[in-house]
Amino acid sequence: MEQPTFAIYLRTDVNWTQLTEENFLDQRDSQSSVIPYRPQRLRPILRGIQVWNQLFRMNYFEYRQRLKDIAVLSRSHIRGIDLVIRNRHRAPNLSNMGQRSFLLPCDDDDWYAPHVVERLLSVAESCGGVICWKDAKVCFTHPRVKRGDPNSPLFVRSSGPRGVKTNSYAVSNAAYSSCPPQLRGLFLDRHDRVHKIVANNCNGATLLPIDEVLSFTYKSPASITCIRNMTSEQRLRDLVPLIRDASPSLTKEVEWARPYAEMVAELNQELVHGIRSNGSGEPVNRQLNGSAPRVPARHAELINLLIDRFKYDSYLEIGCAGNRTFSKIDVPDKVGVDPHKGGTLRTTSDAFFQENRRKFDLVFIDGLHHREQVMRDIQNAVNCLTPRGTILVHDCLPKTERHQLRKKQRGSWTGDVWKAIVDLRRQDDLDICVFDGCWGMGAIKVRRNAAPFEEDIPLNWETFLSSRDDMLRVVNWQRYWDFLSAHPAAPETTACDSQYAVEMT
Ligand SMILES: C[S@@+](CC[C@H](N)C(=O)[O-])C[C@H]1O[C@@H](n2cnc3c(N)ncnc32)[C@H](O)[C@@H]1O
Repeated sequence: MEQPTFAIYLRTDVNWTQLTEENFLDQRDSQSSVIPYRPQRLRPILRGIQVWNQLFRMNYFEYRQRLKDIAVLSRSHIRGIDLVIRNRHRAPNLSNMGQRSFLLPCDDDDWYAPHVVERLLSVAESCGGVICWKDAKVCFTHPRVKRGDPNSPLFVRSSGPRGVKTNSYAVSNAAYSSCPPQLRGLFLDRHDRVHKIVANNCNGATLLPIDEVLSFTYKSPASITCIRNMTSEQRLRDLVPLIRDASPSLTKEVEWARPYAEMVAELNQELVHGIRSNGSGEPVNRQLNGSAPRVPARHAELINLLIDRFKYDSYLEIGCAGNRTFSKIDVPDKVGVDPHKGGTLRTTSDAFFQENRRKFDLVFIDGLHHREQVMRDIQNAVNCLTPRGTILVHDCLPKTERHQLRKKQRGSWTGDVWKAIVDLRRQDDLDICVFDGCWGMGAIKVRRNAAPFEEDIPLNWETFLSSRDDMLRVVNWQRYWDFLSAHPAAPETTACDSQYAVEMT
């Protein structure tokens, strides 16, 4: 018997990083995968977004992208997906998928069990129509909210396999083909209609329920259903304790979702820590571990703050000179590399990285201040960084033109380190910002670039003076601390990146 083909059909795949309050209503022009809501329907959502952006310092669109990143990570773990269909405006051409095939319609924030395909395969033989599985019950709890309370924005909807809800079904090629063409869009997009469509319009098709939770979505306060009810800041403020104190409480059957639920819990903590002032000038609800410690006077102090905050165990310094920093770093396991003096290894960074096989939590790059050398040091540091690690790069902000000349200067000299930072800010997989202090301390996290620098401008002293803050994403201390504390976002991989996958756009 021919092995069925399985495809994820992304009903929505919004690029949230491209959306702003200004272009939100016109998103159909820029996004190929957006449900074509009419502006009347989008307006209340936009109002909710504006309320959100007034209250939280984490922009609504960034929050949504972070939720999407978590879901992308979940889908990248599904075994046995053959293709991913992303463009909702092109009717899926199932004939390309072979006679026996199944579509799994989902939204960009849905999570899936890694074994979903194996489970569906086990019943696919007996199903000529739609396989649906149990929706998750509560995935987050709060002491003050009853389990399953439909009014709480923190709970996923709950229903059994009979009430097919979002993302909990797979449609077979046979059922889809037997459905009248004008209803096919509804079939894939409107989970609440699936029953009726199968019963009334698909010849011979049946609905096969599975009593297992194979997918669910975290019902976030930012979901479209919830955000359009956020008509006032007070309403959103009232939710803050629920968002802050709710924790993932997963039953055994959805244990597979634990990593994603924990990521959401951390994201929510980050969100509520970033609440804006309520007009009194004082930030509201900023928790101790969310607000930055006092601004460090020297870079050794900054490095020790990070080591303390993130419980780092290992430290690598490139360029140690007289050990002014190296000797003050308070960590048991430290390695210093310098060809001339200081540190623990007398060699160049290139030679060190060539031999090195170990990982570090924190890498501080302060060696030769030339663009291409700094670039190499950063790239090598990325390869030996632990997953929660941080790379710091010193001397990103020259104060005068002389400081940034290529030739080493007497006294303070930053060289053209700043140009390496601008080069790397164009990359997708590194998130970078620069603290406006300590001669510009660049911070690099290996995660999705939340603010890529896309302008094509020459890198010279004039453009540095006119566009320094944009080019280098220069931030104050609090924003720097928030950046460092942010949870590592999931890499942008999906099932379609697997070697077996073919992508239909
Ligand atoms: C600005 S100093 C470092 C200061 C030190 N990190 C501190 O905080 O006090 C730069 C150091 O980089 C070293 N250096 C120069 N070229 C290097 C290379 N290729 N690899 C590693 N270190 C290098 C120099 O010998 C010098 O000691």
